Amino acid sequence: MSAESIYYPSQEVLDYATVKEYENTYKFSIENPEEFWAEQAKQLEWYEPYEKVLDSSDAPFYRWFVGGKTNIIHNAIDRHLKTSTRNKIAFVWEGENGDVKVYSYHALNREVSIFANILKSMGVKRGDVVTIYMPQIPEQIFAMLATAKIGAIHSVVYAGFSHEALGERIKAAKSKVVITADGGFRKGKIVNLKSVVNTALEDNPYTQVVITVKRTGHEVEMISGRDYWFHDLKSLPIASIKCPTEVMSATDPLFLLYTSGSTGKPKGLVHTHGGYSVYTSTTARMVLDIKPEDRFWTAADPGWITGHSYIVYGTLLIGATTFLYEGAPNHPYPNRWWQMIEKFGITILYTSPTAIRGLMRFGESWVKRHDISSLRLLGTVGEPINPEAWKWYYEVVGNKKCPIIDTWWQTETGGHMITPLPIFPLKPGSATKPFFGIKVGVVDDEGNEVHPNEQGNLVIKSPWPGMACCVHEDRQRWIDTYWKRFEKFGWYHPGDAAKIDEDGYVWIIGRSDDVIKVSGYRLGTAEIESALVSHPGVAEAAAIALPHDLKGNAIHTYVILKKDFTITPDLENELKDHVANAMGPIARPESITFVDILPKTRSGKIMRRVLKARALNLDVGDISTLEE
Ligand code: PRX
Repeated sequence: MSAESIYYPSQEVLDYATVKEYENTYKFSIENPEEFWAEQAKQLEWYEPYEKVLDSSDAPFYRWFVGGKTNIIHNAIDRHLKTSTRNKIAFVWEGENGDVKVYSYHALNREVSIFANILKSMGVKRGDVVTIYMPQIPEQIFAMLATAKIGAIHSVVYAGFSHEALGERIKAAKSKVVITADGGFRKGKIVNLKSVVNTALEDNPYTQVVITVKRTGHEVEMISGRDYWFHDLKSLPIASIKCPTEVMSATDPLFLLYTSGSTGKPKGLVHTHGGYSVYTSTTARMVLDIKPEDRFWTAADPGWITGHSYIVYGTLLIGATTFLYEGAPNHPYPNRWWQMIEKFGITILYTSPTAIRGLMRFGESWVKRHDISSLRLLGTVGEPINPEAWKWYYEVVGNKKCPIIDTWWQTETGGHMITPLPIFPLKPGSATKPFFGIKVGVVDDEGNEVHPNEQGNLVIKSPWPGMACCVHEDRQRWIDTYWKRFEKFGWYHPGDAAKIDEDGYVWIIGRSDDVIKVSGYRLGTAEIESALVSHPGVAEAAAIALPHDLKGNAIHTYVILKKDFTITPDLENELKDHVANAMGPIARPESITFVDILPKTRSGKIMRRVLKARALNLDVGDISTLEE
């Protein structure tokens, strides 16, 4: 290996890790993918065995474990009830205000069954989409699991999204039932979710029922005939604690998750019961090294894929204990996370580089106040981690004994794709190597493999069980977005730029398309631009990402005003608010630059690359296609 700083795992880590060897297993998994995945599928129970591991006849609509009958809930809850895991803690929750709730697997089953019966009584059937817009409280997880249990499909919308973004997602999914809460706590304040739902549903022909969980107790508007309090429904005889788990085909949809792309409206990625169960349980076990005795904390929102795969499903599939915290990391003080790790004896922490940078800012004395020696493994996800944050995480949080598992993956991939295993020598900033069964390449625009350390397009060259099966009700979009770019090779194109070094370690550079990662959140430039243009004063707009110390990237925008509008600081703020209202606070632009013209190609496409180069004082590169 080259001489740069490499961090080797201790003997203790090597001895304890679930996976002891990489090279041979990787080789086997690439040469015999179906055998490898069939072996992993054996770790789960199936109502009826599958006939075929992988059906590629309709590629790129790959079908995994075809003919198999299962339900992710059978493996995440039901099967644990038959063993001593029944008495184990499945789930610990702490509210921002200090409330704590603890559920055994037995109790989890009871809560999920009650919720499932309520959903059924509200007319939810197999295949219906239930939209969940909730704070990070236990009922958010119960709602997801209950929906899956009865064979319906959940669509969780992150509670930071605006009413417009929520309304759009509810309509796209044609959700008859929406589950929400009166509000949640964030930095000591109430986030009023029910009123967002009320506005989102104003012009919605689909939603007939809204179930509201009481969390904050503040006054909310309930619409008679449509809105029900969860606690009222819970007290009715229909809310029985017994509910059979619906038998599903492995290829049946489990959930939709809307995510931003480079063009147009957010798309609903669809994940299925079978492939997703196998993939999330395998990666939780091998990558995050979660064992039944672990107390595992994914410090992310269940409303994102990270939360779906590793707060909820991956961890419960293994029968470990998962932890959920409702609020802000620095409330009331910046020691909140470390205090909870000490209090609950968390053994594995999985979070984003943005969160690490945010906590690092407060200095190590906040960490040192607490005994967090229960930690044995640390993970990151969502954006490239800068070596400085990596080292702080490793040295201050992990006390130089916890491997840093930097996992590269996406909403579309369902689970980890490029990632170290705990036994790997680590290079800060590199997501290291492909997981078992994942064939990656870094190629030029023609599909030729680039030289070591040269930047290129990251591609995935073969299918894997965690992959989304499609985009909800839009076959063409699945093909166009991910498979068209390298169609002749049949490769998946994730939209990231990367390089591979001489040791075969992958370094993710960032998005190569028009997606911006702000604090790890994924936003499309097209969505930001259309939000700006929906303001009466804006004629045209462009959005780009520029580096930001804390957030990784920040949104910078360029606006051409309509004739009758003049540039004022008030208007600038109004436009920023306008974007935040349309999409959610995370999308509020850092800056707005008023311009008379935008760089465009002759075919009218905005050349964001030119704006970015200008802003960073870099060479603008080839501008032969520039219009003026
Ligand atoms: O650009 C990559 C970045 O996040 C994108 C996927 O975003 P999303 O679907 O929201 O899922 C995030 C959580 C899985 C990727 O295309 N990304 C994710 N993980 C990493 C990363 N970039 C660098 N290093 C990572 N570990």
